[in-house]
Amino acid sequence: MAWENLRRIAFTMTHVWDSDKAEDIIAAHEGLEGPMLPILHGMQEAFGYIPEAVVRLIAARLNLSRAEVYGVVSFYHDFRREPAGRHVLKLCRAEACQSVGSEANAATLLRRLGLGWGGTTPDGRLTVEAVYCLGLCACGPSALLDGEPHGRLDAAALEALAAEAV
Ligand code: FES
Repeated sequence: MAWENLRRIAFTMTHVWDSDKAEDIIAAHEGLEGPMLPILHGMQEAFGYIPEAVVRLIAARLNLSRAEVYGVVSFYHDFRREPAGRHVLKLCRAEACQSVGSEANAATLLRRLGLGWGGTTPDGRLTVEAVYCLGLCACGPSALLDGEPHGRLDAAALEALAAEAV
């Protein structure tokens, strides 16, 4: 079996909804002061996104309204409301990368893929997300593809990087 298939299966297995796991994540953090963000990070790490069931569970357990939980989820770029594609390309939109053309390159790529920020290709292969500084400012425009850093991504290099995933 190809390595890519094994990776996909492993990803799917680790991101299956599991209410016991969700309860464990809440139990591990609810005693903290300001438990919401650690809980949400734990949920996203476990499930790959923040499902509706998680919003309901957190609201009930922290005695908050669902609107309050949604407010936090939508405020932070890190949290996804939908499962990501099999590959995730995070493009830096912070100032140093903008100064070397990241926005134009990203706009070209998103237009070609027919996506907005946070969108996933219809075949589920690639999600393109924004990130605000990867600490690679000297090598901008910078990006992460499946967690691996890439720098000096002019338009052609960005296209080639995205093509690896689609
Ligand atoms: S501004 Fe893009 S890596 Fe810092």
